[in-house]
Amino acid sequence: MKLLRTVALGAAAMALAVPAAHAATVKVGVVMTFSGVNAEYGEQIMRAMDLYLKEHPDALGGNKIELIKRDSKNPGGAVAKTEVQELITRDKVDMLAGFVFSPDAIASAPLVTQAKVPMIIMNAGTAWITNLSPYIVRTSFSMWHAAYPMGGYAAKSLACKTAAVGYTDYPPGKDSLEAFKKGFEGAGGQVVDEIPMGNPAQVPDFTPFLQRVKDKKPDCFYVFVPAGPHAAALVKTYGDLGLRAAGIKLIGPLDIIQDTKLQQMGKAAEGMVVMGHYAADYDNPANKAFVKAWHAAYGADSTPDFMAVAGWDGMAAIAHVVKTLHGKIDPDKAMKALEGWKFNSPRGPIMIDPMTRDVVQNEHVEEVVAKGGRLHVKVLETIPQVKDPCKELKVGKCAQ
Ligand code: PHB
Repeated sequence: MKLLRTVALGAAAMALAVPAAHAATVKVGVVMTFSGVNAEYGEQIMRAMDLYLKEHPDALGGNKIELIKRDSKNPGGAVAKTEVQELITRDKVDMLAGFVFSPDAIASAPLVTQAKVPMIIMNAGTAWITNLSPYIVRTSFSMWHAAYPMGGYAAKSLACKTAAVGYTDYPPGKDSLEAFKKGFEGAGGQVVDEIPMGNPAQVPDFTPFLQRVKDKKPDCFYVFVPAGPHAAALVKTYGDLGLRAAGIKLIGPLDIIQDTKLQQMGKAAEGMVVMGHYAADYDNPANKAFVKAWHAAYGADSTPDFMAVAGWDGMAAIAHVVKTLHGKIDPDKAMKALEGWKFNSPRGPIMIDPMTRDVVQNEHVEEVVAKGGRLHVKVLETIPQVKDPCKELKVGKCAQ
């Protein structure tokens, strides 16, 4: 169409029209939870994506991005799949982004393979998701990034001989359990109980699960819940039932101390130890600039978190593709541009592993400490540039 219109113009006008013809608009479908109990996740990631574009006006090389937002509502996968289908067939998007919950990404994977639409995952953490399609790239994390090294650390450095594991009963929860167990038992620990704790759509009453843990008296209680309201309720129940006083350490991936929930967790959170790749407290220049821009845009009481950083980095990845391909998105060239892409993220240096299309990032052992009337995240140890251990060790579906 653009070409036909240009042809109709006179010679002088045509010369003027040339630069405009090069500036393309790239359509990106963004599928995330924007309503219901998990609405805050979509908002965090969206804010970070918008902020990246605002802070980097030249990042698109003069091209434009049109973000077409769709609400995946509940985390079951069916709604997301329908939306992805519509975004591909009706809106004709060039790329897809977002995907908070693993079932949403899992259900959508066959569609992006079939239509060849690059899909940038900005949260969904089940390790093997990236094995489902050659058009998937992930800027967030694999559940194994944190859970597997946390298992080794708990056995060796926290002196936990026994551990109970609690997990939200869906793919990333099962993945986190498997990864922790492999790391923990490989380092000489013993998992004495495995407790499914409800589903991601509703926050359960954690009391019966945590009472069961208290009765078992393990040294450590390793938990994965999908952050947000789940994490806040978990830590509250941990405090209310006196598990720490009973000598049971609460450990997990960073999801259980999400920055947006940390301050409200209060005393119960002090002394928790997690493995993580981002906290708003990180002391590096890229993060200082990110947090400062966030506060200026969204207010001093608002904070970025691990979901936001994946949105920021994911938008940087999309911008990299748009700029590299001069706004003309060929799916295979887009994937080539992303494989091996390096970025100075607020979380530290990251790379997209050219072999797996998953993120490579530093993992930190972090302790929650109280200082100046606030809770802070103190880095105790760093494991540099971790590749998804599930794929490195070729476990189960990660081997395919
Ligand atoms: C996921 O569904 O993959 C998921 C959701 C929330 C998290 C982590 C993983 O905090």
